[in-house]
Amino acid sequence: MRQVWITRHGEPEVLQVRESPDPTAGAGTVRVRVKAAGINFADILARLGLYPDAPKPPAVVGYEVSGVIDQVGPEARRFREGDRVIGVCRFGGYSDTVVLPETAVFPLPPKMSFSEGAAIPVNYLTVYQMLFVMGSIKSGERVLVHSAAGGVGLAAIDLCRIAGAEVIGTASTPKHERLRERGVSHVVDSRVEDFESAVMRITEGKGVHIILDPIGGKSWAKGLRCLAPTGRLVTFGFSSAVTGKRRSVFALVKRLAQVPWLKFNPLTLMNENKAIVGVNLGHMWHMQDEMRRWGEQILGWYEEGRMHPTVDKEFRFEEAPKAHHYIQDRMNFGKVLLVS
Ligand SMILES: NC(=O)c1ccc[n+]([C@@H]2O[C@H](COP(=O)([O-])OP(=O)(O)OC[C@H]3O[C@@H](n4cnc5c(N)ncnc54)[C@H](OP(=O)(O)O)[C@@H]3O)[C@@H](O)[C@H]2O)c1
Repeated sequence: MRQVWITRHGEPEVLQVRESPDPTAGAGTVRVRVKAAGINFADILARLGLYPDAPKPPAVVGYEVSGVIDQVGPEARRFREGDRVIGVCRFGGYSDTVVLPETAVFPLPPKMSFSEGAAIPVNYLTVYQMLFVMGSIKSGERVLVHSAAGGVGLAAIDLCRIAGAEVIGTASTPKHERLRERGVSHVVDSRVEDFESAVMRITEGKGVHIILDPIGGKSWAKGLRCLAPTGRLVTFGFSSAVTGKRRSVFALVKRLAQVPWLKFNPLTLMNENKAIVGVNLGHMWHMQDEMRRWGEQILGWYEEGRMHPTVDKEFRFEEAPKAHHYIQDRMNFGKVLLVS
């Protein structure tokens, strides 16, 4: 099989294709010949050495694939050879062949392409957990979505529409028109304009009910200030620690110092009627039944035509460095994939 390896921490060029013998499906598992594998921002953090959960290099990262089952292990009963599927994996997804427990595999809906399938698991499960499971989203609420044109961001726009909530988004300016076409009511470029003042102006001083913030650092302090009473700040990433194509420990320490540690305390939250919610999908792996239910709901919405994953660009395995550059250069509008 062919895999894309992080050979050492560093710039995108540390990603290299290597070959090794095919794995065999063991008890309760299936082998999937991969058509498309999702790239996530977490993979960039892993490549840079900024992601504590990631395996140490040399390693293969990747959380999600779509493809066709070509081998069913003993005691695996849910699938047959030839089934088109979506698979969720904890690392190892940058591969043209993966072996997965059958509980981590979903049938690909008949109308869904392999590319769409690989664009669903991480983005939509994370947003589902943030909005519906922990954020208690309600119709009519205002939601601030940071990095709204990214994979998670566009999934959030989809699921906010289903919930009947209004979206205010932040993104680089060239993406604003396309976000408005998706129904985002106001778009702010937080590198050009202070998003806190913009949100307070847009909402006439009322603030927003939910904020999805994977930026971290001082963004969380601003977010807390522009939450309406009963508002929920969802922290789920720390992309502000990424300041270049190589890791900067200085930038990381600076961003950590900007976290509003004193505001993140129960007495302040009690007096301000605000909540801080933390989400890390990678730490939900032991909750397979729960995640399966969320996944079935998401695929059900897809089959009803109520949501559409946005695939931006596909790169071949040997182009993996280009794909990482593309995301880090803030070019993507939606999901970026590796295709075999
Ligand atoms: N906790 C979890 O379970 C979980 C799960 C999935 C994702 N996440 C987090 O959610 C965020 C979005 O993930 P994603 O996979 O969907 O990626 P993505 O949004 O496609 O990421 C790329 C976009 O993020 C924006 N961005 C913000 N800060 C950046 C920086 N320092 N360097 C480069 N781009 C930056 C850029 O868009 P603009 O310039 O337009 O803003 C860029 O186009 C990431 O921080 C990720 O770690 C967390």
